[in-house]
This record gives sequence, structure tokens and C-alpha cells, in this order.
Amino acid sequence: MIKFLGSNKIKTAVFISGTGSNLKSLIKFSFLKKSPIKIVLVISSNPKANGLNFSRKYRIKSKVYKFKDTIKDEIVILNYLKKNNINLICLAGFMKILSINFIKKFNGKILNIHPSLLPKYKGLKTHERAIKNNDKFSGCTVHFVNSKLDSGKIILKKRVKIAKNDDPKTLAKKILAQEHILYPKAILKIFTNL
Ligand code: GRF
Repeated sequence: MIKFLGSNKIKTAVFISGTGSNLKSLIKFSFLKKSPIKIVLVISSNPKANGLNFSRKYRIKSKVYKFKDTIKDEIVILNYLKKNNINLICLAGFMKILSINFIKKFNGKILNIHPSLLPKYKGLKTHERAIKNNDKFSGCTVHFVNSKLDSGKIILKKRVKIAKNDDPKTLAKKILAQEHILYPKAILKIFTNL
């Protein structure tokens, strides 16, 4: 893994597809002195992603790739990441699946946040499934990305209590608030052992 030496922050790209609230929290975190990362690039698979407003607001370079032709787009993205000396990728609400080839090229340097307590509920509709199964808790997980969906090594998890009257929307909101805290915490954990 990359070492954070205190002065040179790790050049990071955040991949998004939608609202971008995790992107926003990561940007704010990156401005802190204690942050080991500097976000220099935002990649969106969606030209209309609200998250692109944050890259504009904070003057971070952004690019849109629709991943219609994944292989072609990934080649262009890999070149672009190289040109910008990117050493870490944070997936944050990124709704496309990266190829094994891409993941291998960034082996151990791609993180993701997932809205469930992994290994429970990989994939989509995590909140619906947790409620349907009468789970008492759900939560979120930050993990390394490997070639299997939502299956890489877990860095940190946070439990969130499911209330009797929670629906997928209210639960998603509660968990999202915890995601914003957990992602920076996980980054601190892997790079600075804090
Ligand atoms: C988050 O719940 C994230 O865990 C999931 O998609 C949602 C994205 O939210 N993968 P945002 O775009 O960061 O607001």
C-alpha cells in the first residue's frame, strides 16, 4: 500500500454516478491537515450527476465517461489517471462495474463504500432486503475493491439500528449520514493507523 508521509498527500480520484454526498464529505475531509488524501479528479459515469456540482464548486477537475463501451472508456480513464499521477481511487456511489483488468492495474488502491454490513447484502436494494428480513441492524462498510462484487477486504463497518417504522428511504438516510463519517475514518485507518 501507499505510505502517507505527512507532506505529500495521496493523489486521489473519486468515481461517482449520482448525488455525490459521499464525494462532498470526502472533499471536505481532504481539506483537513490530517487528511492523507488530496482529491484531484472526479470521474462520473453520469453527465447529470449532482456530484459534478461539487467538483465545480471546489474546482476539482472532472470527466464524464458513460461506460457504454467499458473497455474503451477504461483505457482512456487509465491513461488519464496516469497523467494525473493518481494513486488511489475512491468509489462513492459509482454504479458501474469495473473490469478485472482495470482493478488489477490499481490492485489494492481502490476503495468502495457500500450501504450494508458486508458480507450481508452485496449488490443493490440493500435497505429493502435488510427490512424485509426483519434485521435489527443494518449499516455501511468501507472495503477494498477486488474482482468480486462487494467482496474485497473490509476496512471498517458502522452499525445502524433499524427502527420498527423505518422504510428503505428513512433507513437509507440514516445510513448515508454514517457513511459520510465512516469513509474518512477508513481512509485514516489504512494510511495513518489512526
Ligand atoms: C451511498 O449509499 C453509497 O453507499 C451507495 O450509493 C449511495 C451513494 O450516495 N453505493 P452519494 O452519491 O454518495 O450521495
